[in-house]
Amino acid sequence: MNWLRKLFTKPQAVDDRDTAQSNAYDLIGGDKVIRAIAHDFYQQMQTRPETQALLAIHRSPMQESEQKLYEYLSGWLGGPQLYQQKHGHPALRARHMPFAIDESMRDQWLICMRAAIQNNIKKPEHQQVIIQAISTLADTMRNC
Ligand code: HEM
Repeated sequence: MNWLRKLFTKPQAVDDRDTAQSNAYDLIGGDKVIRAIAHDFYQQMQTRPETQALLAIHRSPMQESEQKLYEYLSGWLGGPQLYQQKHGHPALRARHMPFAIDESMRDQWLICMRAAIQNNIKKPEHQQVIIQAISTLADTMRNC
């Protein structure tokens, strides 16, 4: 499937989207859906009793974190590289090094992200592929 292949290819250069071909970003509903996922993610984190340790390592208020997650997901899913345009190379693992991320933290992060994806992406087959890919990415953030 073309959109799946594109999800796993290296990120496109800034402003170099191939808008003639649909990819994960377009198929799930583009900017609006990605904004909604980032918002929902932080709502989940703030309201679930089982993710309070994850909440505790985030800054408050969370608007900046939500905005950065939205920008990152936009590029990661094959849309505009908003994060890179604003903040440079994501170097995501390095940016997470100040935080102790063990299996439990990873799992709490994934609880929130899984719910946000399921609440905002319509098709179960799209949810499934994206959850799988983001779980692999989240696992690479572990540093203890
Ligand atoms: C695996 C468990 C993860 C934990 C515990 C975690 C935790 C954190 C924390 C504590 C911050 C700082 C937020 C703040 O200052 O309020 C952060 C920033 C961020 N996280 Fe994660 N994160 C995880 C995985 C991920 C994944 C998989 C992604 C990508 C999909 C991601 C994307 C980001 C982005 C884009 C930022 C902003 C970086 C910046 O400061 O520019 N995180 N994360």
